[in-house]
Amino acid sequence: MNANTPVHTRVADHPVNEAFLGRWSPRAFSDATITEQELQSLLEAARWAPSAFNAQPWRFVYALRGDEAWDGILGALMPFNQTWAQKASALVIVASETKFIAPGKTEANDNGSHAFDAGAAWAYLALQAHMAGWAAHAMAGFDKAAMAAAIALPENHVLHAAVAIGKQGNLADLPEALQAREVPSPRHPVTATAFHGGFK
Ligand SMILES: Cc1cc2nc3c(=O)[nH]c(=O)nc-3n(C[C@H](O)[C@H](O)[C@H](O)COP(=O)(O)O)c2cc1C
Repeated sequence: MNANTPVHTRVADHPVNEAFLGRWSPRAFSDATITEQELQSLLEAARWAPSAFNAQPWRFVYALRGDEAWDGILGALMPFNQTWAQKASALVIVASETKFIAPGKTEANDNGSHAFDAGAAWAYLALQAHMAGWAAHAMAGFDKAAMAAAIALPENHVLHAAVAIGKQGNLADLPEALQAREVPSPRHPVTATAFHGGFK
């Protein structure tokens, strides 16, 4: 990071922990490397997400930049995402298992909460990344069939997102078109998304 690297200037309408404002999704990554152990710590945070029946349906597949899994995962991203995510330290695919054996049952059934729970786990990962000095940027922009093939996605599993993780880098290292977009985004007010008593 240097003086030209954006930092968040978000202001909350109600008190929240700094981590919620400070986490954002930059595209400028330095060429930092992440160790397997550092990445495990982010996955550990995801591990502690809540889930229906404690089924823990989230599944992660990851590659560290330059390892043998890297090219297949990077190559499945949409070209736009490849332009910046290629400098990330790790790429983590977020998937979930769609079936589970409910308590007291012997056969697997559909888990109606698998996607919701995987979303919670990714958010935990992203917050832990921020708190540990990393940035995590989720992407839905990838070729699902190519990604499924790249990671050997098993039956009864679905893909949700790819996440680029890295150290925030210099704005100047981004293609010019992306530099203007490298700012923490605002949010709707809580009143636009939360309603006391119903949608009235
Ligand atoms: C499921 C999901 C998919 C996303 N897909 C992309 C993507 O393909 N490319 C990209 O540059 N950003 C992508 N984003 C980043 C969002 O645009 C970003 O999170 C949003 O604008 C809010 O900004 P913030 O994360 O900086 O707070 C995605 C985020 C999520 C959660």
